[in-house]
Amino acid sequence: MPACDVTPEPYKGRSYEETMKIKRSNIAPTKVPAYSKPLLLTQGKMQWLWDDEGRRYLDMFAGIVTVSVGHCHPTVVGGLKEQLDEIWHTTNLYLTPPMHEYAEKLTSTLPDHLKVCFFTNSGSEANDLAIALARQYTSSFDVISFRNAYHGGSPYSVGLTAHGTWKHSYPNGFGIHHSMNPDPYQGVWGGSKCRDSLVQADRQCGCDGECEAGERYLEQLKEVLDYSVGGRPAALFAEPVQGVGGVVQFPKKFLKKAYELIHERGGLCVSDEVQTGFGRLGSHMWGFETHGVTPDIVTMAKGIANGFPMGAVVTTKEIAQAFTGTLHLNTFAGNPLACTVASKVLDVIQGEDTMGLCRRVGERLIRGLATLRDEFNIVGDVRGKGLMLGVEMVQDKGSRAPLSGPDMLEIWDNMKNMGLIVGKGGLRGNTFRLKPPMCITEEDADFTIGVMRKCISDFANKQPQRKVTI
Ligand SMILES: Cc1ncc(COP(=O)(O)O)c(C=O)c1O
Repeated sequence: MPACDVTPEPYKGRSYEETMKIKRSNIAPTKVPAYSKPLLLTQGKMQWLWDDEGRRYLDMFAGIVTVSVGHCHPTVVGGLKEQLDEIWHTTNLYLTPPMHEYAEKLTSTLPDHLKVCFFTNSGSEANDLAIALARQYTSSFDVISFRNAYHGGSPYSVGLTAHGTWKHSYPNGFGIHHSMNPDPYQGVWGGSKCRDSLVQADRQCGCDGECEAGERYLEQLKEVLDYSVGGRPAALFAEPVQGVGGVVQFPKKFLKKAYELIHERGGLCVSDEVQTGFGRLGSHMWGFETHGVTPDIVTMAKGIANGFPMGAVVTTKEIAQAFTGTLHLNTFAGNPLACTVASKVLDVIQGEDTMGLCRRVGERLIRGLATLRDEFNIVGDVRGKGLMLGVEMVQDKGSRAPLSGPDMLEIWDNMKNMGLIVGKGGLRGNTFRLKPPMCITEEDADFTIGVMRKCISDFANKQPQRKVTI
């Protein structure tokens, strides 16, 4: 494990057993298994986490892509400490310096037409508000998103989310339609050269020039518009790279053509940057820029404030104006503490060349992960860009059938036991997700690859048919 010069304070809080007892009695049950034995994490510093027994872990998941610049980054902590003695809350009925300064700073990173901010407390709230804005502005109701998308769990946004695993049986998604997911690896039409990634999908395609798969998925979107939408759509929602869905990248140019189609039909395009924003993709500040598109509304959360609860919707003056007919209030929106933290996060991203780090370390990481795909038959796909990477685990390369839940858990547990925390995602939970705080080093990348190789190899060695290399 790479060295670390931080000595954690010994943990003196409630014991693991007592905490688990409270979890079982007083915390809402969840279907998501957090390892066979859940982790009790008590301290964090930059890319490192410590558990109650003082064991150190490399955090390659950042609290689900949220601790953007590092746990307890000193610049962010310093800013927050100062603000704690100034003012905590007033509501945005009044002017406060942190909210106004942050709105100016944030919009300076976006294209000129995106100038007006609504602040929220989460990504789900941001997407709810974006749906409402689009419907109000267009006077239309129909909204489209892609299968395999995750846009939130609130009553409105869960309708955009197109993963059965996240749906309850209560009515949701009225007026929301899901188009076929343009996935070059698992989709019905594969693509072997169309991803904006250093690693391409291991699928056959006969494309020469234009990407055939991209065109066919676009036809599917046209069909949704023609068959399911009555006239003008309100909006299309898309993640520039699908996050919870397992780091799925659309064929290049697909999103650009999808935006053109929606705009032709009078709808708005919304870019959900909750995971892809703030430089994570390494080449641009915003995921939509990597597709060469300009959205009408951008939603963001998670990494915006390094773990402090906050979200935002940024849009044009005209669209925002459509929301002034009635009152709109969100009590905590623009909270001075949250805006101070978010402001410091932007200072770090811009001052420490965070985007350059994502590009440099991300390249090393994805090249290393690609060697795992070459070595193991159960590593089906490696994809992504910058520090948003996915490793899809399969039963074998030929079938592309997902590696089972218990098999994934075994490998995942073993990585954790060796000090590596990664995420899991995809409809069937068979994609390892690597989305660390944007401060990891090349050495951390090498450690990650080494641990993954060891755990995958130990697993494959127990089942010789899976050891096949290509
Ligand atoms: C792309 C995307 N949009 C929206 C959300 C919802 O954000 P929140 O959990 O803050 O409500 C998420 C959460 O994972 C997300 O990944």
